[in-house]
Amino acid sequence: MTDLLVVVGARPNFMKAAPIVLAAARSGMSFSLVHTGQHYDAALSRVFFDDLGLPEPHVQLGVGSGSHAKQTARVMVAFESALLRIDPTVVVVVGDVNSTLACALVAAKEHYPVAHVEAGLRSFDERMPEEVNRRLCDHLSRWLYTTSVDANENLRREGIPDERMAFVGNTMIDTLMRCVDVARDRRVPERLLVGGRPYAVATLHRPENVDDPVVLSRLTAALAGVSRLLPVVLPLHPRTQKRLERDGLRELAKGITTTTPLGYLDFLGLVADAALVLTDSGGLQEETTALEVPCLTLRESTERPITVTVGSNTVVGTDPVRIVSATAAILEGRTPRGTLPPLWDGHAAERIVEHLHVALEGKVELARTGS
Ligand code: UD1
Repeated sequence: MTDLLVVVGARPNFMKAAPIVLAAARSGMSFSLVHTGQHYDAALSRVFFDDLGLPEPHVQLGVGSGSHAKQTARVMVAFESALLRIDPTVVVVVGDVNSTLACALVAAKEHYPVAHVEAGLRSFDERMPEEVNRRLCDHLSRWLYTTSVDANENLRREGIPDERMAFVGNTMIDTLMRCVDVARDRRVPERLLVGGRPYAVATLHRPENVDDPVVLSRLTAALAGVSRLLPVVLPLHPRTQKRLERDGLRELAKGITTTTPLGYLDFLGLVADAALVLTDSGGLQEETTALEVPCLTLRESTERPITVTVGSNTVVGTDPVRIVSATAAILEGRTPRGTLPPLWDGHAAERIVEHLHVALEGKVELARTGS
């Protein structure tokens, strides 16, 4: 009998799941790691296993890319048989990608209790596919592990009872704290010829920013404007790479140092010593908060308000003038660097595993309901 089935599928899942897998192994729990294959390029998947010391997945579903319906459906069909074969006590899902929702839905329908790590985040922007995934996944899950108390408030507002949620901290920050020294030792800024002087790191990959040529050209112009103030390094997600080529924006981006997607340690080493980060990523808003690196979020909303109220993040939208002037304000030291949110202390995964141990010992009702 396997205690935990842990699901990973896309790049942001790996660093959130790694400390849970490691803490479970340390505490004597058995686990199966299932990779859906939503991300399959070595730069978006393999390198994270190597960098994070994750064991090889026990099962690889190999679903690949597709429309939302196709990708979600393929994960569901493939996951169903893996789930029934492994027959775990608990299914653990992390984050808000399509694989997260697909596996939670299958598990709930087969009456397996689901533990959702990073529960309760809400951007209140229904156009984000992740917002749909978050809401549904939370309502399907038996246990909801949150990274900040505002997430508990969101869950309460949706009628989820307190006994299903636990504020545990942030497993992605567990990984960051474990890896940051090793990451810095790689001397990535020097390798990219930006070391020894202030530089910015940018990332763009959200469909609402890169799929629309008008928004993408505005953001490329904004980053070109920032690159006149300091060097900008932009590792390119495959989606963004394709769109820049499609829209003929390569010329506009020529003052910016673009790279292929970086692995976990290389990217962390680059961000750790940046003067600022400009991004539409969710996780990076949290990582910059933990590193006390100023962050400008190139979106209209954030599902991670703690990074604004306590951390180093400012939500600036996509207007080039606003983005360049916010950058100038940071370079002149006119914005605070924030502090570490409560429980972002490197021990979130241990709290989750401890909670699951209590559950497995039967002190919390765990049986497959209805079966
Ligand atoms: C997904 C997540 C998003 C997360 C992001 C991190 C959903 C709905 N979205 O978005 O929340 O922030 O991952 O990267 O789950 N592609 C490759 N190689 C790969 C994977 C994808 O080239 O290994 C290309 C394909 O053209 C694919 C496109 O990237 O169609 C988008 O991939 P997909 O997994 O659908 O969504 P992401 O944009 O990566």
